[in-house]
Amino acid sequence: MKPTETKKIFENAQDFLPINGTDYIELYVGNAKQAAHYYMSAFGFQSVAYSGLETGNKEQVSYVLEQDKIRLVLTSPLVKNGLINEHINNHGDGVKVIALWVDDATKAWEETTKRGAKSYFSPEKHEDENGFVIKSGIHTYGDTVHIFIERHAYKGAFLPGYKPFASDYAPAPIGLTYVDHMVGNVEWGKMNTWSEFYAKVMGFTQIVSFDDKDISTEYTALMSKVMSNGNGRIKFPINEPAKGRKKSQIEEYINFYNGAGVQHIAVATDNIIETVSALKSRGVDFLYVPDSYYDTVLDRVGKIDEDLKPLKDLNILIDRDDEGYLLQIFTKPVVSRPTLFFEIIQRKGARSFGKGNFKALFESIEREQKERGTL
Ligand code: FE2
Repeated sequence: MKPTETKKIFENAQDFLPINGTDYIELYVGNAKQAAHYYMSAFGFQSVAYSGLETGNKEQVSYVLEQDKIRLVLTSPLVKNGLINEHINNHGDGVKVIALWVDDATKAWEETTKRGAKSYFSPEKHEDENGFVIKSGIHTYGDTVHIFIERHAYKGAFLPGYKPFASDYAPAPIGLTYVDHMVGNVEWGKMNTWSEFYAKVMGFTQIVSFDDKDISTEYTALMSKVMSNGNGRIKFPINEPAKGRKKSQIEEYINFYNGAGVQHIAVATDNIIETVSALKSRGVDFLYVPDSYYDTVLDRVGKIDEDLKPLKDLNILIDRDDEGYLLQIFTKPVVSRPTLFFEIIQRKGARSFGKGNFKALFESIEREQKERGTL
């Protein structure tokens, strides 16, 4: 089985949608207060802002946390029968919003909706004593949305409506620096629909694709296309299930999430050994690959700067491409359903996604699926 990798640039790509980076990721969760505690204590996020009853918001409560360039928003409903309740009921805790930081949220909305995006809301100005922001939004796969945030005229903690929040409880950051990529799982046969959405509607280009021959084990398979914006700061791999002898992990996700949604958030670190040591000591569980992986990994990836022993002790995976190598590891699901998880990644030149690790990784996921009775 020879892996194939195709690189294709869409000829019609234009940077009509310049994006500065990921502005925030908002999760709808059953208990935002406790979720915030988890991301502070286990992942080292710092408290930044808050919205809720104390700020006059009677509908929902949100905690905003940050670590370097990564901003998480955890939101729960305060009332019954609203859209947030419905989202949690359908999907469990999960990502609702991938917010994108732009210089012009009005133009971002106009350019994307005229190319076929379904509007989530048209441009709105929100202001308080710290200035104003312009927000607009469009729908993407499943119930997930993109919100465009224009914040050059705003000096507050997060957005109008939020007050600064500095918890007395503030465990140290663990070295997470920025969002490297966010992966969407979509339904059978929908990978091309959504990769074309990112190409046509948002001007992204396809930087790599993996077929079921690249991403399969003896039992399960999936396919993936990686879409990137013009400056490469936003990368969205889109996965769909593929036929195997047993149930694809993507199908398991779709079943429990009740549709398409964000599968994993990959966050970067400059020192994966320190970061993963801290995460493990704070109670985060990771996928496990057998020790035998480390018997041959250096034959495959060549010389690396790190000693192999701490990588093996922490179960960190290694891969190499034409430009360098990368170190990566995947958590087990961080929510109650087998849906959302995190990837921790340290790039040392490599700009790829760890194709050399897919087989070991998916066999590891299959062991977890077997335990869950969902293989
Ligand atoms: Fe990833």
